[in-house]
Amino acid sequence: MSAPVPQAVVAPLTRSAIFLVVTLDRAPAHLDRVRELFGDVAGLVRAVGFRNPEGALSCVVGVGSEVWDRLFAGPRPAGLHPFREVRGQHHAPSTPGDLLFHIRASAMDACFELATQLMQRLGDAVAAADEVHGFRYYDSRDLLGFVDGTENPVAQEALDATLIGDEDAAFAGGSYVIVQKYLHDVERWNRVPVEQQEGFIGRSKLSDIEMDDATKPSYAHSALTTIEEDGEELKIVRDNMPFGDAAKREHGTYFCGYARSPARIEQMLVNMFVGRPPGNYDRLLDFSTAVTGTLFFVPSATMLEEPPPAAAR
Ligand code: HEM
Repeated sequence: MSAPVPQAVVAPLTRSAIFLVVTLDRAPAHLDRVRELFGDVAGLVRAVGFRNPEGALSCVVGVGSEVWDRLFAGPRPAGLHPFREVRGQHHAPSTPGDLLFHIRASAMDACFELATQLMQRLGDAVAAADEVHGFRYYDSRDLLGFVDGTENPVAQEALDATLIGDEDAAFAGGSYVIVQKYLHDVERWNRVPVEQQEGFIGRSKLSDIEMDDATKPSYAHSALTTIEEDGEELKIVRDNMPFGDAAKREHGTYFCGYARSPARIEQMLVNMFVGRPPGNYDRLLDFSTAVTGTLFFVPSATMLEEPPPAAAR
C-alpha cells in the first residue's frame, strides 16, 4: 500500500487566510452530509483554485474530538481530545468547534469563494462558531509589530514536525492543529518601550534578529516556546495571521499551530500561561487575551477522500 498523502498542512504562509470553525448538528442526515463533503473538498479546492493558478489556494480540514465518534466507527486518533483549558497567570479557554476549515490563498477572493462553497454544501448541518479573516501585515508582522513565523521549520523538518508516522500507524499522514484567537491591547502595548517589548519576544523588533542566550530573558515568548525531549527540540508549524476591525478597535493574532502530537503545543501553552518554572510566564499575555481555543485532528488527504466507515446510529 502506498503512503497516505497528507493535506496541505505545510503549505507556505500566504497573504490571506480564513479560519472557519463550525459546530455540527447531530441529526444523522446532517452527519451524512458532512461525510460526503469530506470526499469532495479536494474537488472544490481544484474548481475554485483553477481559475487563478497563481492563487496558491489550499484548504486543511480538521475534525474535533466529540464529533469524531459521531461520524466514524473504529479506532480514534491517539492524540484526539477536546482542547484542555490552561489556567495559570492567565487563562486559555476551551471553546466549541467540531470542524475547522483553514483556507489559505494569495488573495482573499479565492478564500472567500471557497468558504462560501463549503458553507453552501454544509447548509443547516452546521452553525458558525467563529470565522476570522486574516491578512499578511507588511513583512509578516503581527499587530504588535514583530515579525511572526521566522523560526518555523521548513521542508523535511516541517513534515517531520507535523505528520503522524509509525507512532499511530492507522492515522499516518495525519496531523493535529490547535487554534486560538488572541485579542491585543495595542494601545497599552505601544506604551511599552521597544527595548522591553523585545525582551518579551526575545528578538529585535526592526531587524527580527534573535537575542543571544545571555541577553534573552527566561520569560521571553521565544524562550518559553522552545521545548526539548531527550535533547531534541520539539518543533511545530505556526500559520498565525493578524486580523482586526479598526472601528471596533480590535487587533488580533489568530494562532494556528500544527504538530504530529498535540502534547508539544500543550506543553508550550503551559509554559506560556503557567510559566517555566511556574510564575515565570509569557509577558505577551499581559497584552494579549485568548478568547477561543480548539483542538482538531487533521486526517490525511487520503483518509479525507475515503473516510472510515460511518458510526452506528
Ligand atoms: C498572541 C499570540 C502570539 C503571538 C503574537 C506570537 C508571536 C510570536 C513571535 C513574534 C515570534 C518570534 C518570531 C518567530 O520565530 O516566529 C514567535 C515565536 C514562536 N511562537 Fe508565538 N506567538 C503567539 C502565540 C503562540 C502560541 C500560542 C504558541 C504555542 C503554543 C507559540 C509558539 C511559538 C514558537 C514555537 C515560536 C518559535 C520559538 C523559537 O524557536 O524561537 N506562539 N511567536
